[in-house]
Amino acid sequence: MAGALPWKTAWVTGASTGIGRDIVLQLTAAGVKVAASARSPDKLAMLGEGVLTIPLDVTDAAACKAAFERIETELGPVELVVFGAGTYAPVAADKIDPTLFAHTMSTNYMGVVNCLAAVAPRMTARGAGQISWIASVAGFMGLPKAAAYGPTKAALINLAECLEPEMKLKGITISVINPGFVATPLTAQNDFEMPFLMQPDEAARRTIAGLAARRFEIAYPWRFVAILRALRALPYPLFFRLITRFVLKAK
Ligand SMILES: NC(=O)c1ccc[n+]([C@@H]2O[C@H](COP(=O)([O-])OP(=O)(O)OC[C@H]3O[C@@H](n4cnc5c(N)ncnc54)[C@H](OP(=O)(O)O)[C@@H]3O)[C@@H](O)[C@H]2O)c1
Repeated sequence: MAGALPWKTAWVTGASTGIGRDIVLQLTAAGVKVAASARSPDKLAMLGEGVLTIPLDVTDAAACKAAFERIETELGPVELVVFGAGTYAPVAADKIDPTLFAHTMSTNYMGVVNCLAAVAPRMTARGAGQISWIASVAGFMGLPKAAAYGPTKAALINLAECLEPEMKLKGITISVINPGFVATPLTAQNDFEMPFLMQPDEAARRTIAGLAARRFEIAYPWRFVAILRALRALPYPLFFRLITRFVLKAK
C-alpha cells in the first residue's frame, strides 16, 4: 500500500482468513505494528513473523479484555481496531434453528460488543483512537436466506450510529464497514452468482483507505451499494416483488 498510514499500531479480529487477513497484511506492509486475532492459531501463524498473533474467541468477553491488555503491553497504545470476526450460514424460511441464530448473534454482534468493551475504556481515557467493525450491506435490509446473519449486521450498523456522536466528543472515531460480496471462505458456500463479487485484497484496500480518511461508513462496491439503497427506498410491495423475482427465482 502506497503512502503513510495514520496509525502506528492496530488490532484486527477475524484475521486468519478473508478480508481481515488481507487488512493485516496490508497494514503490516505499510509499517503498522499489528496484533491479529481469530480462533485458529495455525492460520494466524501464516501471517508472518512481523504480526503479533493473539488467538481469541470473540464470544468470550473476559478473553477479549485479557487479549487487549496483552496487546497494549506488547505493542503500546493501540490506535486502530478493526473488528472483523464473523460467521454466516444460509437459512431457509421454514428451518429456523435457534441455536444457529444465537451462535451467529453471539459471534457477529456480541463479538464486537465484547471487543468494544475491552478497548473503549482505555481509548476514551486517552482521548484518542479509531474503532471500526465490519457489518455488511446485508444489514441494509432483510434478504432471503439471511435471516440469521442479516439482523446481526443491521444491529452492528445501528450500534455504530448509536455510539458515533458521543465517542466523537471523547476523541474517538467510529467507523462501520459495509462490504458487498467478497470472495472469502464465508461466501464460498453460496450456490448463486454473487453480483459485483470483489477479491479480499481489494476489499481490504478500500477498507484501509476509508479508515485512513476517517469515514463513518465505508461501503463498497459503490454500484452494488447504490442499487441496494435504491431498492431499500421502495415501498414494501414493490420491494418484495423485485426480491422475489431477482433473488428468489433468479436461480
Ligand atoms: N465475504 C463477504 O462477502 C462479506 C460481505 C460483507 C461482510 N462480511 C463480513 O466480513 C467479515 C470477515 O468475513 P470474511 O468474508 O473475510 O470471512 P472469513 O474468511 O470466513 O473470515 C471470518 C473470520 O472470523 C474469524 N472468526 C469466526 N468466528 C470467530 C470467533 N468466534 N472468534 C474469533 N474469530 C472468529 C475466522 O477465524 P477462525 O475461524 O480462525 O476463528 C476468520 O478469521 C465478517 O464479519 C463478515 O460477516 C463479509
